[in-house]
Amino acid sequence: MEVAPLLLLPLLLLLPPAAVAAGGESAAHPGYAHGTEEACGVAVLPAPERREEFDGGRIVDISHYYRADMPAWESAEGSGEFLRLARSMRNGSDIANFSELRLTAHSGTHVDAPGHVFEHYYDAGFDVDTLDLAVLNGPALLVDVPRDKNITADVMASLHIPKGVRRVLFRTLNTDRKLMWKKEFDTSYVGFMKDGAQWLVDNTDIKLVGRS
Ligand SMILES: *[C@@H]1O[C@H](CO)[C@@H](O)[C@H](O)[C@H]1NC(C)=O
Ligand SMILES: *[C@@H]1O[C@H](CO)[C@@H](O)[C@H](O)[C@H]1NC(C)=O
Ligand SMILES: *[C@@H]1O[C@H](CO)[C@@H](O)[C@H](O)[C@H]1NC(C)=O
Repeated sequence: MEVAPLLLLPLLLLLPPAAVAAGGESAAHPGYAHGTEEACGVAVLPAPERREEFDGGRIVDISHYYRADMPAWESAEGSGEFLRLARSMRNGSDIANFSELRLTAHSGTHVDAPGHVFEHYYDAGFDVDTLDLAVLNGPALLVDVPRDKNITADVMASLHIPKGVRRVLFRTLNTDRKLMWKKEFDTSYVGFMKDGAQWLVDNTDIKLVGRS
């Protein structure tokens, strides 16, 4: 059985650190509260460490932070309050805090499983666990695509992506238009067209596609 050759991974723009958790007036969850201020001599709690190194390399995390006003598929209202502290040690729970997440698997920066768009793969159980980690991890080529077109076969041919490149991230007009910062879902986003995908399969060594 053959796995879908392409994985569509909408990778999104690099965030300025100031944009982090800027989504709401109040942090919806303690995990999203930033920093702990010293008040009246009260001890300052240690700040959680975000690890940005792995195996001697630097991780460049270009994922979007989840926000209530992050766009969601065909929603005018964004993602909504997706995270809450369902039980708190401060309030009745004697053993632990329990956070609850409610959001679709296609929220924000995500990877699509073969079963997402092909019913026979879905029925056969091709979920994200079946993706090859060796394909998902490693050097990638960042490619700026023309801003006035979707990614078609002609666009693909014009990019002259060298043979041997296995992973590409396409930076598109979506990033310029800051679509991930618009609460209302915008159907005019730039995407990878069927003939562009076919061209890629027929003419390149690319196994992983990300799109911003
Ligand atoms: C549990 O949640 C409370 C907020 O109600 C928070 O102040 C506390 O730090 C949390 N405890 C742990 C261990 O996460
Ligand atoms: C504490 O728990 C009660 C009962 O579940 C709830 O009604 C109340 O809003 C909670 N208070 C806080 C501060 O979380
Ligand atoms: C890409 O295709 C979508 C859907 O057909 C369309 O709305 C959009 O205008 C196209 N974008 C460009 C840059 O041509």
